[in-house]
Amino acid sequence: MTDNFDVADFARQFRAFMTAVSRLAPPEKPSALRRRLESHLGRDPDGLPVVTDSFPAFEHPNIQVALDAYLDEGGRRADLLGISGANREHHGLADIVNATGRHQQFDVGAVDYVSVPVGVETDMTCIGFGLLLIVSSDDRLVVLLRVGARRTGMPQVQLEVLTADVTAARRFLDTIRNLAVERSIFRGQVLSFESHEFSDGLGPLRFHHRPEVDQADVILPPGALEALHRNVVGTTEHRARLQAAGHRLRRGVVLYGPPGTGKTHTLRHLIGRAPAATVLIVTGFSAQFIREACTMARTLAPAIVVLEDVDLVAQGRERPSAALTNPFLAEILNMMDGVAEDADVTFLLTTNRLEAVEEALVQRPGRVDLVVEVPPPDETGRSRLLTLYGRSLLLSDADVSRIVESTAGVTASFFAELGRRAELLAATSGDARADAGHVMRALDELNGSRAAFGRRG
Ligand SMILES: Nc1ncnc2c1ncn2[C@@H]1O[C@H](COP(=O)(O)OP(=O)(O)OP(=O)(O)O)[C@@H](O)[C@H]1O
Ligand SMILES: [Mg+2]
Repeated sequence: MTDNFDVADFARQFRAFMTAVSRLAPPEKPSALRRRLESHLGRDPDGLPVVTDSFPAFEHPNIQVALDAYLDEGGRRADLLGISGANREHHGLADIVNATGRHQQFDVGAVDYVSVPVGVETDMTCIGFGLLLIVSSDDRLVVLLRVGARRTGMPQVQLEVLTADVTAARRFLDTIRNLAVERSIFRGQVLSFESHEFSDGLGPLRFHHRPEVDQADVILPPGALEALHRNVVGTTEHRARLQAAGHRLRRGVVLYGPPGTGKTHTLRHLIGRAPAATVLIVTGFSAQFIREACTMARTLAPAIVVLEDVDLVAQGRERPSAALTNPFLAEILNMMDGVAEDADVTFLLTTNRLEAVEEALVQRPGRVDLVVEVPPPDETGRSRLLTLYGRSLLLSDADVSRIVESTAGVTASFFAELGRRAELLAATSGDARADAGHVMRALDELNGSRAAFGRRG
């Protein structure tokens, strides 16, 4: 570098040179996209503010439904355009708009659509990447709807609104947010959160048929099912009366007992008994979605939040000082608390180890109202279970007594397996009906592997 090099002077000369060069180039014709934007907005779009709102990707169908509802309202209309151009997904709306002018990186193209599940066997076509030129009374909005931007790690749906009037943009986004809740396709559905992310459509959410388990098929100690019905279903049925009397609706129920005694079975029955409830199932393995599940429960009430195997996420105090430092347990507690008391939401928690969670969960007034033990069945229970799962068996009263006696300590699921095995033994032996002989053989087999089927003691 020489001493007499003057940077400022060089810059001046360079700018003059570039201006001269650009005058030599033929004038650029604005892209079709540019012309559409200009005529829609009635002005040059460069430099206009962009207001953005983001939603978890699983809200995609609700955003689409909300947009449709918004545009259905009288006096509103919109043109839908696609955008072509390399790497458009890496650019914000402001960049895209700017690049329709001078460098013409982007132009009008085809709209991207994606098919998104909205039920067990139903899909909905949603805009995946598209530009809406919206006219709503005096507002002129340019709205980019896109999915898949992973700015926060989780896939997202984004609405970017470009308009001269920032309040109009906010008003639009608020309306969409409210409509997305009001018209949510999740309302009244049974949904579970899965721990791993899927790139298709709804990310961690899975749809399920509402289970139908008859009351007669749930064999619990006397009074247990009545108490559960009263808390879960009764509260919804008598919502108005409870509220008028100043009582809260939000409630928490814990089901505890060893594996195979019917906690999940009972939950399935309760879900079936609350046909209008939105059901959100979170297990210890998908605990990171507790926040989303609780937010959805709040907005989609009446709702049931099922938290299965909470001991997997919630550790008791006997694990060194883990009780309230466990972030998932703390999350459950905070989230349960974050749902307003007047929300018609049931939290149904299950665990194999009450002692591991009771101190933190159960002994917090206002969070858990009912704790139900689901123990291995007593004699009466075993006799009822044998009747239930042994419907096809040919058994005398004496056979029944003998089987009930020799199954002390087994769990309820043992009987489902016993009935199945006895029937299979009869079928494979070519016998028309399964009888006590088949049951005894099945019992011997099962006792051989009883640990696997929950025999206790
Ligand atoms: N109390 C019961 N009444 C009738 N059938 C039952 C009962 N308990 C269990 N079963 C039968 O056994 C199967 C397994 O039981 P379930 O999955 O409900 O056990 P669980 O208590 O949830 O066990 P885990 O703690 O391992 O989750 C049920 O699908 C049902 O067929
Ligand atoms: Mg279970």
